[in-house]
Amino acid sequence: MTKPRSEALVFYGATGDLAFKKIFPALQRMTKAGQLDVPVIGIARGGWSLERLKARALESVTAHGGGADPEAFPKLMSRLRYIEGEYTEPDTFDRLAAEIGDAQYPLHYMAIPQSLFEVVVTQLGRINGETKSRLVLEKPFGTDLASAQRLNAILHAHFDEQSVFRIDHYLGKEAVQNLVFFRFANTFLEPIWNRRYVESVQITMAEPFGIKGRGAFYDATGAIRDVVQNHLLQVLSNIAMEPPPFSQDTETLRDEKVKVLKAIAPLNLSKVVRGQFRGYLDEPGVAPGSHTETFAALELEVDSWRWHGVPFYIRCGKNLPTSRTEVIVKLHRPPPVTGVPLVSNHVRFRLGPEFQIALGATVREPDLEEGHPLELLASHDHEGVEADPYEALLGDAMKGETFRFARQDYVEEAWRIVDPAIQAPEAPLIYEPQSWGPSQADTLVPGGWVDVGEAKDDRW
Ligand code: BG6
Repeated sequence: MTKPRSEALVFYGATGDLAFKKIFPALQRMTKAGQLDVPVIGIARGGWSLERLKARALESVTAHGGGADPEAFPKLMSRLRYIEGEYTEPDTFDRLAAEIGDAQYPLHYMAIPQSLFEVVVTQLGRINGETKSRLVLEKPFGTDLASAQRLNAILHAHFDEQSVFRIDHYLGKEAVQNLVFFRFANTFLEPIWNRRYVESVQITMAEPFGIKGRGAFYDATGAIRDVVQNHLLQVLSNIAMEPPPFSQDTETLRDEKVKVLKAIAPLNLSKVVRGQFRGYLDEPGVAPGSHTETFAALELEVDSWRWHGVPFYIRCGKNLPTSRTEVIVKLHRPPPVTGVPLVSNHVRFRLGPEFQIALGATVREPDLEEGHPLELLASHDHEGVEADPYEALLGDAMKGETFRFARQDYVEEAWRIVDPAIQAPEAPLIYEPQSWGPSQADTLVPGGWVDVGEAKDDRW
């Protein structure tokens, strides 16, 4: 059933970094695509004016949105409003209520630190009346299981779950959606997509840069909270989930993803390697002697009928040798053919920076009588096809579509899994910048991490 569209978009933290880097460019693209023809109300407490916010919007689309679009940008500016005020002041929200007018489904996008969620949500609960406000929350959602449960209780005191949209920008990525599509759209995959054929699943998110001046945020967060609890468990869920039943019920997809997490035990610390790049402690904002990890490698098991006994490995880190987010589904090695030992086949999903799906196969090398591994490229990205995740997600939230957002039970299950590794962590192992993390991460995986190197462009 189609839900009503939001008739106003309110965004908190209008003068902040996220608004500058992501939100204004996304709003311009949405306006250009005819997806945003409602009042856009920025709120912040920086002592700004509407004129200053407009100037900031121009700088934002110039730096991050490919420039001001001659039609869309003026349109967006004509709809932009600004409310200056403290989030703790009821008056700020009374003025907001007047600006929202009689909109029944206003969308409130919280691009603010989660420590402010409670005060804003409580004020919204007060001015909400009969309206069915929608709430978009930036990650991180909570800092562990207990805090996420507490935050959910606060939200649910004023909003039902269908009105809550917890952002994980990976869910707005075409390549991440395609994991599910490719699996279920191709009959040849289903028979092998289980413990009989799959030896292991390896998920790598390698970033070549450090913490980019986000010392204070990152030091309180660490790699496991920053990307494992959310982005990488979402990727894993898409790889491991069962096909959702055919139904009009829009929750079935999210139900299946929650079932995957329910089948995963909390992390066993003997299967977790935490690392910190040398030099991290000198970064501004980082506490002296910090134990925060900038690298993590870990093993999980999805203990279901399909996956029992198959290790799922996750590895992520800052200051690694390359930029690559990739899933390798490694198949059991075939027995030797005519006495020639062979390598394992695999299915590879590159999710970033480019988008690729490839099948790792072996062919006979003429004359040499031995196997030659190659990749059959099933799909690759076409520049510009990937919509910005924020545009896609905000567009969904305006329509009240929840399926690309993290549901309460999912978020809590994800925290349950990682909680043992983030509570009172020990000192991480030091690794050299531009290396693949501590050597213990390599021994976690019998046979080693599959490295197919840089993306190839030979097509199937
Ligand atoms: C963010 C993390 O959520 O995702 C960052 O806070 C990380 O630390 C980023 O760099 C990665 O996103 P993407 O889309 O570049 O893979």
